[in-house]
Amino acid sequence: GLGLYELYSWWGGVQMGPPDPILGVSEAYKRDTNPKKMNLGVGAYRDDQGKPFVLSCVRKAEAVITAKQMDKEYLAIGGLGEFTKSCAQLALGNDNEVLKSGRNITVQTISGTGSLRIGANFLSRFHGPRDVYLPKPSWGNHTPIFRDAGMQLKAYRYYDPSTCGFDFKGALDDISKIPEQSVIMLHACAHNPTGVDPRPEQWKEISDIVKKRNLLVFFDMAYQGFASGDIDRDAWAVRYFIEQGHNILLSQSFAKNMGLYGERVGGFTVVCNDAEEAKRVESQLKILIRPIYSNPPMNGARIAATILNTPDLRSLWLEEVHGMANRIIKMREELVAGLKKEGSTHNWQHVTDQIGMFCFTGLKPEQVERLTKEFSVYMTKDGRISMAGVTSGNVGYLANGIHAVTK
Ligand SMILES: Cc1ncc(COP(=O)(O)O)c(C=O)c1O
Repeated sequence: GLGLYELYSWWGGVQMGPPDPILGVSEAYKRDTNPKKMNLGVGAYRDDQGKPFVLSCVRKAEAVITAKQMDKEYLAIGGLGEFTKSCAQLALGNDNEVLKSGRNITVQTISGTGSLRIGANFLSRFHGPRDVYLPKPSWGNHTPIFRDAGMQLKAYRYYDPSTCGFDFKGALDDISKIPEQSVIMLHACAHNPTGVDPRPEQWKEISDIVKKRNLLVFFDMAYQGFASGDIDRDAWAVRYFIEQGHNILLSQSFAKNMGLYGERVGGFTVVCNDAEEAKRVESQLKILIRPIYSNPPMNGARIAATILNTPDLRSLWLEEVHGMANRIIKMREELVAGLKKEGSTHNWQHVTDQIGMFCFTGLKPEQVERLTKEFSVYMTKDGRISMAGVTSGNVGYLANGIHAVTK
């Protein structure tokens, strides 16, 4: 007969979970044998040959680091000091009053996701209200990050499908009704998945309403430099909110703008009332981090710090960021030109109006399905395409496919 040990299973009650909506697209892409296939699902930059791109400034920083033969001791719980300092400066600007008065605390995190999660855990432990308001739609991972930390997710209107643009009125309406002290998540620039950002005048009104409602702002800045190609311009909203007296939370990622995806380099910042408050918050962030991963990994932070703190490498980096942003803008223009050439009569202006790595095409789920089935173009069901996967070589093919499923 069967031994007892064969009948019993610890995990018999565990059910199969669904695949990740974005990484699942990549898996289907890999199985496809069509030589013309395109993966426009995942948001990772590709060069004009469609190859993953390692920035020259990163290669150079790595050489500098290797030559120094540095040790591999543990970092502090809050990470590498040279990194966190320059990370905060990059977001806030070197001579920001917050930095001068020392009323921020910035810790190194496991890229943007880790930063958001540490922030979510911090809120869950120290902020009374549970509600976190996300733009509708938002990056898919925002919901489980906050939910798993014990927060409750709500939404405010953001994207208007009828214009493929910003629903300014809807956003203001919804935000003006958010209960006081709730948390509101704002994408600092290059909103994912829509590519739609508020204009400066609109940001100003959002700031006013958020102030009136006494909301706690959590900025997610995963794409600094990727929106306009200019680091300072992309940080405008964050700096403006601080100037207006918002004591924000801020998540930063260096995945996209330094191409350090797998190195997992990020920062989490809390802007406080004064330096004394910042010290207390710092002590609690350390207590929070220590039992999760003890201290962050050093390699990527060393690379980022070397780039940020070496003038030659820093200017090379700024050029390369600009180059990546420009290539994407060029692909947007070529895609629209291609659609016109195919004879499409739809208005595709949103493709060039939208900003950053993604384009929210407005394609319906059944059109997306056809594009995948008939053209081997892989993308998420919501109609989002990663412009970073479009090249001079395949933009014509993409235009042809999109026209075929939308005519
Ligand atoms: C809006 C947004 N926030 C945060 C992240 C975090 O990514 P990572 O953990 O790779 O830095 C991403 C990445 O796609 C993103 O799009």
